[in-house]
Amino acid sequence: MYLCLMKFAVIGSGNVAWHYSKMWSDAGFTLTKAYARNIEKWKICYAQFPEVAFSELSEIHHDVDFVLLAVTDHQIVPVSHLLHQDAVIFHPSGATDAAAINQKNWGVIWGIYSFVKGQALDYAQIPFCIEGSNEHTVQLIEKIMHSISPAVYRTHLEQRQKAHIAAVFGNNFITLLLQTSFEVLKEANLPVDLVTPTLLQLATNVQHQTPETLQTGPAKRGDFSTLTKHLAILSDRPDWKSIYLHLTNELLKKYEHREL
Ligand SMILES: NC(=O)c1ccc[n+]([C@@H]2O[C@H](COP(=O)([O-])OP(=O)(O)OC[C@H]3O[C@@H](n4cnc5c(N)ncnc54)[C@H](OP(=O)(O)O)[C@@H]3O)[C@@H](O)[C@H]2O)c1
Repeated sequence: MYLCLMKFAVIGSGNVAWHYSKMWSDAGFTLTKAYARNIEKWKICYAQFPEVAFSELSEIHHDVDFVLLAVTDHQIVPVSHLLHQDAVIFHPSGATDAAAINQKNWGVIWGIYSFVKGQALDYAQIPFCIEGSNEHTVQLIEKIMHSISPAVYRTHLEQRQKAHIAAVFGNNFITLLLQTSFEVLKEANLPVDLVTPTLLQLATNVQHQTPETLQTGPAKRGDFSTLTKHLAILSDRPDWKSIYLHLTNELLKKYEHREL
């Protein structure tokens, strides 16, 4: 079958339901049915797809080539048990083991990116980890996803879970640190523009240099006088101080200095 003739359905009305619907529709696939447990959210999520019809879960597999199960991680398995066993189910989770889902034909299409409903994204830039219940399904997913992005990786569960941990370190933790950095500036009545240029420099350089070669700062230099001054200044913010101390000690260990 020509890929562009493929029809799909989506379950959920959140960030990934919105983005994967748009991503595949933009690539020529047809979204014909969707289900969400809240009808108002359904209307908002699928407003941009005039052809889509609401479907009950029990009917959603009829006359589509695959169903995207874009619900909260811990609901993937329970919701799969509400679907017909013949449904071809793809889930988008980095952390969820698909083996317990109810269908014999399942796949995983995990985009390693932050999907936020309504934000414009260039899907061709996104790496995808894929997995499937059998070789035929993996090849089908590979074809579907190669029509979206050149970065499609066959992974097994353990690799996907490790990649998920890597994404938590490389994205979620960095975002938390940035949030802290911005709050520190705000407290000093300074603009965030003070740190954004170094952040952009890092994001650019890390594409062709290792993080090790890009590291600078007082912990790498073993500058204990600056480090203890910073900790003293942070003494009225135990939450920031504990992050600072923990990460500083990790850096000191890495660069073979004594710990604080
Ligand atoms: N967002 C990302 O950046 C990202 C990236 C990669 C992978 N993922 C994966 O994508 C999946 C969805 O994430 P998301 O960000 O789209 O989450 P989300 O925005 O919170 O949306 C979750 C959706 O699941 C629905 N839902 C939860 N339990 C349900 C149930 N029992 N029956 C029917 N619908 C149910 C929610 O409905 P209500 O609104 O009614 O609660 C909502 O529509 C997760 O597996 C996540 O790990 C997300």
